[in-house]
Amino acid sequence: MNDVTYMNWIAAHADWFYLVGAILFVLTLRGLSSPKTAIRGNRFGMAAMAIAVVTTFFLAEGPVLWLIIGAMVLGALVGMWRARTVAMTQMPETVALMHSFVGLSAVAIALATVLHVEQEHSAIARIELFIGCFIGAITFSASVFAFGKLAAKKWAKTISGGWVKPVQALLFLAMIGFGALYFATDSLPAFYAMTALAVIFGWFWIAPIGGGDMPVVVSLLNSFSGWAAAGIGFTLGNSMLIIAGSLVGSSGAILSYIMCKAMNRSLLNVLFGGMGTAAVVAGDDDGAPKNYKSGSPEDAGFLMSNSSDVIIVPGYGMAQGRAQNAVKELYDMLKEEGVNVRFAIHPVAGRMPGHMNVLLAEADVPYDDIIEMDEINSDFASTDVVLVIGANDVVNPSAKDDTGSPIYGMPILEVSKAQTVMVIKRSMSTGYAGLDNPLFYMDKTMMIFGDAKKMVEEMVRTVSDSGH
Ligand code: TAP
Repeated sequence: MNDVTYMNWIAAHADWFYLVGAILFVLTLRGLSSPKTAIRGNRFGMAAMAIAVVTTFFLAEGPVLWLIIGAMVLGALVGMWRARTVAMTQMPETVALMHSFVGLSAVAIALATVLHVEQEHSAIARIELFIGCFIGAITFSASVFAFGKLAAKKWAKTISGGWVKPVQALLFLAMIGFGALYFATDSLPAFYAMTALAVIFGWFWIAPIGGGDMPVVVSLLNSFSGWAAAGIGFTLGNSMLIIAGSLVGSSGAILSYIMCKAMNRSLLNVLFGGMGTAAVVAGDDDGAPKNYKSGSPEDAGFLMSNSSDVIIVPGYGMAQGRAQNAVKELYDMLKEEGVNVRFAIHPVAGRMPGHMNVLLAEADVPYDDIIEMDEINSDFASTDVVLVIGANDVVNPSAKDDTGSPIYGMPILEVSKAQTVMVIKRSMSTGYAGLDNPLFYMDKTMMIFGDAKKMVEEMVRTVSDSGH
């Protein structure tokens, strides 16, 4: 086969290549559902993306090769550089930035298609362009804002006030109005106006949401970027883009739903006001001082090395204090002492989906000892010691017992059922939800005040000194 026949052959079989790509994308999602298979899942994803890009490349009519190859090489270089240099803690903002590019490309494709004047756009095509473009534009500006917010950039300021909601409503209605005008008249200025308003709306929509709720927003924007890509897939008649976009759209929507459910919040509450900005102020019921017991890391180390079962519950404080490697050392030491040590993971512990899993994987904790909430909750009652490291809301018993608590109904790790609970944190202050935690005042609880990493390191020293 010479080069031209070879290219024609690929173009003629594009649907088959796309089918293989689509299957690989499904296998990617399957693989990513467990830490054990995540690397394989990632490889499937890379292969699927390569097949999708290369096949589409051969389908193009009269492609401007230098532009396409130049953009691909540049994109790959920037991607490789970012993947190597980004710190784990910068992951949420990096993901937000990537979504903004998906949104921007949806807008660019929609504009290019609209400007392709020789082509008459049917009513259906105009709807696809309209939807793909406005979702893409909203995704773009909202994701840029989410990036700025998560990266603590000065320009990404949270806005508040009575004027915000009316302005949001006005922008949204105006955007829909211009979209309808474009649909009815095929007017280019109406299309531009709709796109500009969608960009502004995206910003105003996300700007009132507090930093703490950004992970849910990022996951929702992930979903949006998928739908924008699927919409553009219809415009371009590209089945791969429709399938991949729908997979991203639906998986992002499911993840947002799971995160909201685990926080006992509705999506509407996250998006249109809630506890994201300043959080609810700690409600110290009657104002009377409450008693709690505190102990030293040495006490804790001694107790754990003499137990048979220990469950470690990591939370945001472990991430904040970068204590994961010290925690792995503690895990190894206790294992050496013959203690059965496991980790209990709450779905929204930390500040991003899978936050704890990622940190523990980074520290090389074996997956088999990392147990999800639903699986481990029934084991707390038969556990000698639970060590809570910088977790607060996810172990707050009010979520189960106090019908008046704002987090009532949120599923929690039921650590209070264990014989002894030890909690590492720096003070008695509240966690993300801003609520007091009755666990800290229970008779069986010992507070260990200090930075997570330092406290765990001291525990490691005690366990190693007491080694038999
Ligand atoms: P939190 O309830 O936020 O509590 C973390 C605790 O860690 C704080 O009480 C803090 O107490 C302590 N801490 C902070 N830095 C520390 C350090 N260096 N050393 C020791 N302790 C430290 O965390 P959680 O239990 O993991 O719950 C997560 C919360 O975030 C939930 O309310 C969840 O709904 C919310 N949220 C989660 C997500 C996702 S997807 N994970 C997304 C949005 C919101 P001190 O200041 O006294 O040390």
